[in-house]
Amino acid sequence: MDRLPLALVFQILSRLDDSADVGRCRVAWKTFDTLFPDLRSINLHWPLQRYIDLRSRNSSSSSQLSSPLKTIFLNLISNLKVLESVHIGAENLPLDVSNADVEDYGDDMYLTDGAFVNEWLPRVSGTLKSLSISDFWIQSCWRRSEVLSLVSAYCHNLLELELKHAWLSMANVNPMPNLTTLTLEFIRLDDKYLTELNKGFPNLQVLNLIGVKGLKLPMIHLLNLKTCHWTVTDTLPSLTLITPNLITLKLECVRLAAMYIEAPLLSYFHFAIDNVRAISFKTFDNLKSLSLKSSHICSLAAKFPRIETVENLTIESPDLAMGAVENSNFTLKKLLTYFPTVTSLCFNSRAWSKFEASYESFEQFDLDGRKGVQKFRGYLLTVDPPLTFFLVTCVLEQCFNLVDVSLLFRRDVDVHASRRFIYWCTAHWPSVNWRWGTWAEGTEDSWITNGIPNAHEI
Ligand SMILES: *[C@@H]1O[C@H](CO)[C@@H](O)[C@H](O)[C@H]1NC(C)=O
Ligand SMILES: *[C@@H]1O[C@H](CO)[C@@H](O)[C@H](O)[C@H]1NC(C)=O
Ligand SMILES: *[C@@H]1O[C@H](CO)[C@@H](O)[C@H](O)[C@H]1NC(C)=O
Ligand SMILES: *[C@@H]1O[C@H](CO)[C@@H](O)[C@H](O)[C@H]1NC(C)=O
Repeated sequence: MDRLPLALVFQILSRLDDSADVGRCRVAWKTFDTLFPDLRSINLHWPLQRYIDLRSRNSSSSSQLSSPLKTIFLNLISNLKVLESVHIGAENLPLDVSNADVEDYGDDMYLTDGAFVNEWLPRVSGTLKSLSISDFWIQSCWRRSEVLSLVSAYCHNLLELELKHAWLSMANVNPMPNLTTLTLEFIRLDDKYLTELNKGFPNLQVLNLIGVKGLKLPMIHLLNLKTCHWTVTDTLPSLTLITPNLITLKLECVRLAAMYIEAPLLSYFHFAIDNVRAISFKTFDNLKSLSLKSSHICSLAAKFPRIETVENLTIESPDLAMGAVENSNFTLKKLLTYFPTVTSLCFNSRAWSKFEASYESFEQFDLDGRKGVQKFRGYLLTVDPPLTFFLVTCVLEQCFNLVDVSLLFRRDVDVHASRRFIYWCTAHWPSVNWRWGTWAEGTEDSWITNGIPNAHEI
């Protein structure tokens, strides 16, 4: 091993993603240790278990206990010559554990702490391109951090910034025109209208706001934004996006009283909302791919201006909480009246089951067929062969130019039922390109490739 060229050894070391692994390698082999100061990135993550172990060893005075996280990090920083990427994070308690009965007034894991950040950031800021800090919520939730003002003062070449699980002040944030990517996740933000954010990061191309709290009438007004993922977990009176260059938008909200979106170049739009009232969109002239998730699919579709560009339409229904009012009667005809240019249509499992549940209200004898749709994909929840077969008949009769039909069975569906069903469909519509697969929550779809069953196999 000692004869390996140093450049190669350095390559090996650089490919280790996790600084803890780098530490182990340094102990194991002196050459690794010699080359280590040339590494350009730190990626340090503190497992929750380590926090729990340290605390349980000394429960009497937990506030005075210190985890060595900050010490290890400062030691790493002080040894590296040129840093381009710093990612540091503490694993948080699971979201479903109430934090109310966990109190921690320590700051040993408070990573967006201004004093701590000041200890290392100025030294590495000149070369830093990517910075990510994921704080420890039970220590960070009760005090406001000035980390953004420090980052904006020091990191002039920073391109990507990610902050999670912290309470952030927007005071004294200098504009950072070089920053192109910003992610804020589980953040309490002192910027009700997002005016400071728009001013501070005027050239963002990618913005992710996931579960950001503290907003009141937020407006994203960013002229260079291309991609935005915004998950709003509070009920907001209104939300506005004015983004003339936005291409991709994923917007997930619970309840909104009003919303206004002006994004003329938008091409990909994923929109999830439960309660649909005063929504207004300025025209979308470039929308190609639309995915709607709502328990009011048709009322939501009706809010859109007439769009004659959508090619791909995906319909999803949320899992409704017990007792929630369900209002999802939708028919293919209604849906495709709103989006007449769709060529590829996909129903996810919930949407398919809603479709199935309200099949009696179908305009089944309505022969005003849809000739544009060429592809259909449906995620089946159960297979009740006669009923499901009937539904497929409805789809094929209404969309009479369908060429490709993909149906995916839930992975736990009875194999005999699904084979029989496949046989029926392929025998009945031999000219359709059928594609069969299986799906399960949280996994990739998998396709059945071993062909179609013969009659004697059923
Ligand atoms: C427990 O806490 C006491 C007082 O703060 C401290 O002196 C001692 O070192 C701690 N023990 C461990 C195992 O951390
Ligand atoms: C933006 O980046 C360039 C090149 O890295 C640098 O020279 C410039 O000072 C930065 N601008 C600001 C305002 O930080
Ligand atoms: C639409 O979906 C098809 C697959 O069904 C895909 O090949 C195509 O790229 C999609 N088009 C857009 C604009 O997303
Ligand atoms: C949905 O369909 C059911 C059954 O056809 C009907 O009773 C109900 O009134 C419909 N709801 C709406 C909101 O159209």
